[in-house]
Amino acid sequence: MENSLAHVAIIMDGNGRWAKKQGKVRTFGHYEGVKNVRRIAIHANERGVRYLTLYAFSTENWKRPKEEVGYLMSLPKIFFESYLKELMEKNIRVTMIGSLKEIPAEARKYFQGAIERTKENTGMVLCFALNYGSRREIVEAAKAYAAEVAAGKENELSEEEFSSYLQTAGMPDVDLLIRTSGEERISNFLLYQLAYSELIFDEKAWPEFDEDEFDKCLQEYERRNRRFGGLNA
Ligand code: IPE
Ligand code: IPE
Ligand code: MG
Repeated sequence: MENSLAHVAIIMDGNGRWAKKQGKVRTFGHYEGVKNVRRIAIHANERGVRYLTLYAFSTENWKRPKEEVGYLMSLPKIFFESYLKELMEKNIRVTMIGSLKEIPAEARKYFQGAIERTKENTGMVLCFALNYGSRREIVEAAKAYAAEVAAGKENELSEEEFSSYLQTAGMPDVDLLIRTSGEERISNFLLYQLAYSELIFDEKAWPEFDEDEFDKCLQEYERRNRRFGGLNA
């Protein structure tokens, strides 16, 4: 049986611990993590994944020390200056979910530039979850819908229509969620979209999660029996 695979989401976790283990500072792990975003995006595209959503910064990550947050916000510049050309060559389209509003101007500029540059690309969609929190997303969707009802729209909301109020509107539900670095939790990521996703908690830290490990996850996904509440044929 072949499980179809349209949308892979990854919680890129473990940068800090990985760096510490080698006697380096946490930010070194983030730097290596950025290089891995390129490696896995290129590879997922080659594997025919249509949507790759990467959790880059959560609404809760603002709680971290100011220096670390500052470093994380310098990474979009490094990433897009180094790799935007290659993403263009591979026909990859960059999008994002979350909010750019609180993001420092320079990082925002790089994101907006990449989204604009790649918007006609027809290959894999590389979606960054940046300053993203799923509860916030759901609350914003509820507010937007409520406003339309208050303005006279008939209140007949289906589950499918509700999806169209989320920031992932137009994207298929997540087929496979991978979280690196061994933690087994969702950390406020895509709560609505993960309803029937297959979950893989991988022991490798994000900077060391390479093409082979990604392929192993795809193979594991293939072995899963997705029933969606029904029975096997
Ligand atoms: C993931 O690595 C990157 C972000 C959350 C921004 P961490 O920074 O969470 O690394 P650990 O989990 O502390 O090792
Ligand atoms: C989740 O990782 C967020 C991102 C990968 C961006 P965290 O490291 O922030 O999650 P917790 O704090 O361990 O739940
Ligand atoms: Mg972490």
